[in-house]
Amino acid sequence: MPNKFIKPIIVGNWKMNGLKSSIDELVKLIDLCSKNTKFDVVIAPPYTLLHSFNDLIKKNESLLKLGAQDCHHIASGSHTGSVSGEMIKDSNAQYVILGHSERRIQHKETNELVSKKAHAAQLLKLNTIICVGESLEDRSNGNHKEVIGRQLADSLPNGFTNKNTIVAYEPIWAIGSNNSASKEEINQMHKFIASFLLKYSKENYSLPIIYGGSVTQFNAKEIINIDYVNGLLVGGASLKADSFFGIIDAI
Ligand code: 13P
Repeated sequence: MPNKFIKPIIVGNWKMNGLKSSIDELVKLIDLCSKNTKFDVVIAPPYTLLHSFNDLIKKNESLLKLGAQDCHHIASGSHTGSVSGEMIKDSNAQYVILGHSERRIQHKETNELVSKKAHAAQLLKLNTIICVGESLEDRSNGNHKEVIGRQLADSLPNGFTNKNTIVAYEPIWAIGSNNSASKEEINQMHKFIASFLLKYSKENYSLPIIYGGSVTQFNAKEIINIDYVNGLLVGGASLKADSFFGIIDAI
């Protein structure tokens, strides 16, 4: 059964974008979102903006939630340039995106590492958004289900639950391409992921499954209404308050 009783979640992943001056976009977004109670809206800026964004969210008593884009799997120590789950918690972020294809490709992150990170984050009671997605080559070869199944089986840590884990399906070929996957492709893969998870987890969990890859205010409504889609992970269109709110407003 499509899991449509879950409150939809819309996540804005700013990737490596945003300076101190970007606080203006957050001010605008807080104002625009002030009447939204239908969706959970999460904004994931770069680490450097987490604390100032948190201060502003708190000051305005906004329902907007904060997320980080990655975390290390160890709490502290000699890991130059890394940020731990504890540091993310310290900024009051409640979510962390893990295993994004850009990290898997650019930082050679394996499923096993993603699983370790997710385990560490879940111990700290962070909500983990675990990303999976196939390459164009995998899809052309007809291997996409196999690849996603492997990513899920090896990236989800022992003990994950439907309270601490969201799966994000982001086909690599759709990210930043101005061409989202089609309605049929999204439905087919979300349905596959839902049934895979139901069988894979001992507790038969149905986790929220969100879609990412060229989501805009123009296609958001159609995508969110697809069976087995419980939310959206938005990159480029989340950078400006108007276009991000355009998505929230459209759905
Ligand atoms: P775009 O929305 O820019 O395609 O990015 C999607 C994404 O990678 C979100 O994590």
